[in-house]
Parts: sequence; C-alpha cells; structure tokens
Amino acid sequence: MCGIVGYIGTQQAAPLLLEGLTRLEHRGYDSAGIAVVGGGTTAALRIAKKAGRVRGLQADLPKRFTGKVGIGHTRWATHGPANDVNAHPHTNATHDVAVVHNGIIDNAAALRHRLADEGVELVSDTDTEVLAHLVGLSTADTLERRVSEALALVEGTYGLAVVHADFPDRIVVGRNGSPLIIGVGEKEMHVASDLAALVRYTTTVAHLEDGEIATLTATGFTTYRTDLSHTSRPATTLDLDLTAYDPVGDGAEGGHMHREMLDQPAAAERVLRGRLDERFGTAHLGGLNMDARETRAIRRVKILGCGSAYYVGQMGASLVEELARIPADAEAASEFRYRDPVIEPDTLYVAVSQSGETIDTLLAVEEIRRKGGRVIGLVNVVGSAIARACDGGIYLHAGPEVAVASTKALTTMFLGFSLLALQLGRTRDLSIADGKRLIAGLQALPAQIEEVLKSEDQLALVAARLAEAESLFFIGRVRGFPVAREGAQKFKEITYRHAEAYQTSELKHGPLALISPVVPTVAIVPDDELTDRNVAALHEISARGGPLVVVTHPDVDLGDVRCERIDVPRSERELDPILMTIPLQVLAFHAATTLGLDVDKPRNLAKSVTVE
Ligand code: AGP
Repeated sequence: MCGIVGYIGTQQAAPLLLEGLTRLEHRGYDSAGIAVVGGGTTAALRIAKKAGRVRGLQADLPKRFTGKVGIGHTRWATHGPANDVNAHPHTNATHDVAVVHNGIIDNAAALRHRLADEGVELVSDTDTEVLAHLVGLSTADTLERRVSEALALVEGTYGLAVVHADFPDRIVVGRNGSPLIIGVGEKEMHVASDLAALVRYTTTVAHLEDGEIATLTATGFTTYRTDLSHTSRPATTLDLDLTAYDPVGDGAEGGHMHREMLDQPAAAERVLRGRLDERFGTAHLGGLNMDARETRAIRRVKILGCGSAYYVGQMGASLVEELARIPADAEAASEFRYRDPVIEPDTLYVAVSQSGETIDTLLAVEEIRRKGGRVIGLVNVVGSAIARACDGGIYLHAGPEVAVASTKALTTMFLGFSLLALQLGRTRDLSIADGKRLIAGLQALPAQIEEVLKSEDQLALVAARLAEAESLFFIGRVRGFPVAREGAQKFKEITYRHAEAYQTSELKHGPLALISPVVPTVAIVPDDELTDRNVAALHEISARGGPLVVVTHPDVDLGDVRCERIDVPRSERELDPILMTIPLQVLAFHAATTLGLDVDKPRNLAKSVTVE
C-alpha cells in the first residue's frame, strides 16, 4: 500500500519522480506528492502535494520546481482522510525535512502528544508527520544519525525516504516491514517501494532488509543497521521482461486488468514450464526443498492467504485432497495468526501470495516458523518478503501484475497448487496413469483458457445486463464454491455491486428469500457428480423469477431453465475450477466498464495490503 520513489543524480528529479509515481499508482491513489532539494545556490526544499491522482499533481506543479534530489509518494489513506494536508511528503515546522512513508507507526498517538508537549504544532492527521518532526528536532551531525535517532523512538512498520535541505547530497531511506528497493544507475541512484518504478532506469538493484537504513548519493549507496553499524547489501542485475512493466493508458487499451486477463494463457505456460514429468506422471518442484521421504511424512496441508489468494487456496486444498488424499484446508491468513494456532510438526503450511508482501500472510508465516512449522510459499514476486521468509516454495512466473483485481496471478496460483498436489500425490497413492491424465489436462489448459477468452464479446453482453443489478448471488458446490467466492470477489471489487457467494446447497437455508427478478444469480454448474443437484437448484431460482447466468460445460442438460449459458471447455474434473473462473473475471471487467468505473484502480483498495 502506498508507493515511494526517490531520485538523486544529474537530471531534474521532478519529472522522474512523477513518472515513477504514475507507475506506482496502483499501490495507492488517494493523493500524491513530491519534494525536491536544490536548485540555486542555497539548497531549498520544495514540496508539492495534492489529493487525487498523480496527473492532478503534475498539472498543478509550479514551473520552477527544480532540483536533482527528490522523493515522492502516492498514498492509500490509513491515518486521516485523503486531502492535500495528509498527502505525503510531510515536513517539520521549519520546512527543511521531507519524509515519505509506507506502513504504520503504532505509537504515533504517544509521539504526537510528546511532540505537542514540546511545543510542536502538528498540521496533519497522519502518523508519518511525527517522523518529519523527530528528524527535524535532532541536532546530530549527519542525516543518518538524525534518522537513526528518530527511528529509535518509533514502533511500527515503515518503508521511508528522507531528504533534508541541510544535507542536499543525499537521501536516507529505511525499511522495517515495508519493501524498499535501491536502483543503481549511471551517476544516479533511484529508490522505490516497487520494481515497477525502477525498471525503466535500471535493473541493477539491492533489496533493503528489515531493520536496515541506507544512504543514497549520486555515486552509490551504503547500508547500515538502524544503530548505524555497517551491513553488506550488494546490488544484483535482474533478468526481467521489461515490456510487462510498460504503462497502459487508463482505460485506453482496456487497461492493466484487461491486458493481464489476456496474458493468462502465456502465464499458464510459464508456471508449468519445465515442471511436468510426462514419463513418470509427476511434477518436479525443486524449490520445495523436500525429498520424497519428507513429503510422504506430511499428514495435513494448511493453506494460508488473503482475499482472492485465500479463495484459490480453497481450490488448492481440494486439489491436494483429491490427488494426494491428504486432509487439506485453507484459512484466511488474516484470521489464522490471531487465534493462537496449534502448529503441528507433520503439517505442511502453504502461504500463497501474488505480491509476497501481504502483511497478514507474512506474519502468519513468521508465526508458524517461530513455532517450528514448515512453510512453503506460492509467490509471484521473486525475492519478496514472503518468499524469503518461507522454507521453500514455488515461484508463479505470472509476470508483474499491476491491476488491483488479481487475474493472471490467481491462475498461476491454481496451477502451482495443481503441481504441488500432483507431486504430493505421486509420492503417495496417485497412480502413474492418473498422474499422466492430470499432466495432459494441465498441458491443454493454456489453449483452453485462450478459448474462453475468445468469447469476450458474448460475455460483455451478459456483463452489461448484470451491471444493472444492485445485488447478485454467485453460487457453486464443492469444487465450484471457491469459484463462486472468487467470482463474487472480483465482481464486487471493481463494480461496487453487492455480490455474495453461497454454497448452492445452502440456498434453501436462507438466501433463497432474496431471490427475485432484480437479483441475478451466477451459478457454477460443472459436469460432475453434482450436476443434477445443481440443476435442481437452478429450477428453484428460476421458479422465483431470479435471472440466471450459468457457467457450465457443453452438453450439460439444464432442462427448461431460462438462463444465459456460458460454456467452458471440458477439462479434467480436478482442473474445472480454473476454467470456470476465467469467464467470471471477464464478466466483472465488462460490468465495471459498462458502469464507467476505473477498473484498474477501484475505490478504497490498493494492490498490496502491507498494513494490518
Ligand atoms: C484480488 O483481486 C484482490 N485485490 C485481493 O483480494 C488480493 O488477492 C489479496 O489482497 C491478496 O494479495 P496477495 O496475493 O498479494 O497476497
């Protein structure tokens, strides 16, 4: 949540900062601001900040906003509403310090009181402002010492960047629980909370660790612990597909979500590449760091994730139970760690996260490891906090996902779980024939996903009708229920319609009371052992005048039920959930587009949730 950028070098900082912020806007888009130091003989600090989008800030930027050192921020509000005053950077009373900050200062209230007692006037509602005052009040001889002294008083999480008019040759940055990446350029240095803001300038980067601060000058960087003892943090050059970071015009070409949905066949190929063993009908996941004896010793699998990652975790639990016959379940990581969970030595814990930053998932991993449990990660962002905190894992290779609504990352998560279940199954009772059957199914998926995506025009018409409803149900049973949950999540996230997921079997126990001609239901009806029961439920809905959209397989007999029918290609039954999820993404996207909403930046949300 929130995005940080910083630049020091030979070029004017402001345009680079604004460009970087535009690339980070998916992380928070309530307000934006930049601070630059320099220009002229006396180093002065200039700050511009504004509620709303980066383009608004850019339009209003004063002409002479010069300086070759600067920091910037795009905000997702935690303390105080989104307005100009609460926007970052924050400064001290004498306007010589500027701070941008991601994370939450837990003892901000106590620090505000303390500062007020010392006669400091705080102007914003934010926790960040205290940092600016604390740095400003320090009389230490270097900026590093001033920042170190301030951080010693602070409890909480931060990724932060500080500039100071009296130290115009440097930016000091710090990390504790909120990512910061340093980018090394030619006679210039960059810093950002996300690679997306750096890759246009450099792919030589260093990830700061928790508890580290760093000084950036135009010629290099130095890292320390917060007590200023030196650390070694060498920069490495990443091999990245830079086109995946190209900005997509807001709405112009459909935006990021559209591009990411269409990338799903390729993403599916990437996550499977080199991991399928057709000869022995199994998967090879070297990154698990477990041998066959260890995988055989697993008695239970517990999957942890948040939001859509939790729902795909439920799909993953079904895969593990069906293919490996190991009891498995998924739980919201945000709840798990608060209930003092019993950590069992023969349970394999699986953390699933696109960003690898989600704070609840990260803290759940740390809790499990503290209690001696083994955790593997299904993570997209290489080198992210969750990936590093796990004992091993599977990288998803979805490529950067920018839209807040997750699509291709989820598809690769599902395939990651399929690979895991296959490998676990084949070290147990899954036959080689069944293993080969699954592999053939997995290999067919990219083309089948492509086929579903080709029906976008038809889906757009259905979506336009769904968009008219204030409230909708998404229903499914067993394998279909997490599909319904994910479908409802995607729909509500970007259309702001009330979309509720229910088990089809539970309809008669309450929600049927809400069915009426103005409450449509999207039903997941695969051709499986429950088809008849599902079709019976469709009749019950139809009899009460409820409009129906049915995601099903070709040739499934829906009787005389009046509905909009969406057929997806047949796959192996275990793999049905992912093919049935794809049209729900397309429906949500087109419903939101019909309503004229900003699909990539839904209100109140941000791409990664790095605060509790
Ligand atoms: C998905 O569309 C959502 N924006 C959200 O639920 C997301 O899946 C969740 O916050 C978890 O994120 P992560 O995968 O980065 O951990």
